[in-house]
Amino acid sequence: MESVSNRVTTTLTWSNSISTSSLQIPQVFSIRCTKRLRVCCASDRTQKMTVSVTGATGFIGKRLVQRLHADKHSVRVLTRSRSKAQLIFPVKEFPGILIAEERDWKDCIQGSNAVVNLAGLPISTRWSPEVKKEIKQSRIKVTSKVVDLINGSPEGVRPTVLVSATAVGYYGSSETQVFDERSPSGNDYLAEVCREWEATALKVNKDVRLALIRIGVVLGKDGGALAKMIPLFMLFAGGPLGSGQQWFSWIHLDDIVNLIYEALTNPSYKGNLLVF
Ligand SMILES: NC(=O)c1ccc[n+]([C@@H]2O[C@H](COP(=O)([O-])OP(=O)(O)OC[C@H]3O[C@@H](n4cnc5c(N)ncnc54)[C@H](OP(=O)(O)O)[C@@H]3O)[C@@H](O)[C@H]2O)c1
Repeated sequence: MESVSNRVTTTLTWSNSISTSSLQIPQVFSIRCTKRLRVCCASDRTQKMTVSVTGATGFIGKRLVQRLHADKHSVRVLTRSRSKAQLIFPVKEFPGILIAEERDWKDCIQGSNAVVNLAGLPISTRWSPEVKKEIKQSRIKVTSKVVDLINGSPEGVRPTVLVSATAVGYYGSSETQVFDERSPSGNDYLAEVCREWEATALKVNKDVRLALIRIGVVLGKDGGALAKMIPLFMLFAGGPLGSGQQWFSWIHLDDIVNLIYEALTNPSYKGNLLVF
């Protein structure tokens, strides 16, 4: 089987730097990251697509669905709960969006041009052994189902692109090392989760273009990591989360959504892409 590193064809560069004052978060909580990347946006966004999205009701998924819908693409929301998804995407605001629970995912995936896979239990909770198991299993289970459904689709109705989320946790953490797409995986629990998650996505049919997006912490005004981390920081200041001076890599919600969107249509987005 082709290795992950062999599939790398695109390098993205990004430069992020935000100050605590602009975000109105506690001064002691610092967010700094600098990495330069090149983002190519050479795709044709006028061509209409049908896109199935798992995790569409989540922080990133919601914004992605809004963008795709606004650009008149057909969107199929693959969810565990139709009623929850209907509240998030009311038919009045999102006419034409198809919402499907698991038993109908097959019909949605068949006939879609592309699938975006974002589902998984949030990691920003207290990690009991049960939660850790579910963090991993939820990602592997949904990814495996999506891959099986894509692979089982007859040619002609098989999606040609799978954009599947993973995380910078793949690399483990270091205060001194710089990581890029070719860096080896780390030794901790999140690295293990990401490796197994990616390995599951890599089972997709080789004719399907796979973009594995190793996402850094996503920040945006309405929820996401920032909303969860600040209360946690307040709670644990000086404790397990450290002094509050630690660095972490991050990306703005609009930027990650732009990147996923671009990955759907730009054939050079293939392999594992590190974004933060
Ligand atoms: N946000 C970040 O900072 C960040 C950073 C790195 C990587 N990522 C990855 O990017 C993906 C999307 O992130 P996000 O922040 O948008 O996630 P999110 O807000 O936590 O939403 C994830 C979605 O996954 C589904 N889900 C939740 N628990 C599940 C379970 N036990 N089994 C199956 N599905 C479950 C839910 O959709 P339904 O209820 O509709 O099924 C939920 O809306 C995630 O896989 C995440 O690990 C995110």
